[in-house]
Amino acid sequence: KKLMIINGPNLNLLGKREPNIYGSLSFTEFLEEVVSKYPDAEIDYFQSNIEGELIDKLHEVGFSYDGIILNAAAYTHTSIGIGDAVKAIETPVVEVHISNTFNREEFRHQSFISPNARGVILGFGLQSYELAIQSFL
Ligand code: DQA
Repeated sequence: KKLMIINGPNLNLLGKREPNIYGSLSFTEFLEEVVSKYPDAEIDYFQSNIEGELIDKLHEVGFSYDGIILNAAAYTHTSIGIGDAVKAIETPVVEVHISNTFNREEFRHQSFISPNARGVILGFGLQSYELAIQSFL
């Protein structure tokens, strides 16, 4: 299975950013572990802080990959454009969040991704990504 993990804004700072919420492991450290754990999956990774680049990546992989794991971070709650892109592509998208966005601020309770996602996994720390990978295998 060919899978793509797409991370949105500020997730390049994982490990350094609010470690009480997001943990102290960097995403690349985590990814190395996960990639070696699932040798049958081909797992690609893309991160951007720029909304349009996230949309471009969804278009690029969204007609050929078997699955997309998307943490659009803050854009989850604001971006109709990313929501529309998820709707426009053929590859199923699993929305993930590290934190449980429902026990945080009210503005994090809305998602423009969820209505068009195959499923949503949130609140399990970085393990949310691993559960999403498993959902495609
Ligand atoms: C997040 C939750 C978002 O509300 C926040 O803006 C993020 C990270 C998460 O993974 O918990 O940047 O998507």
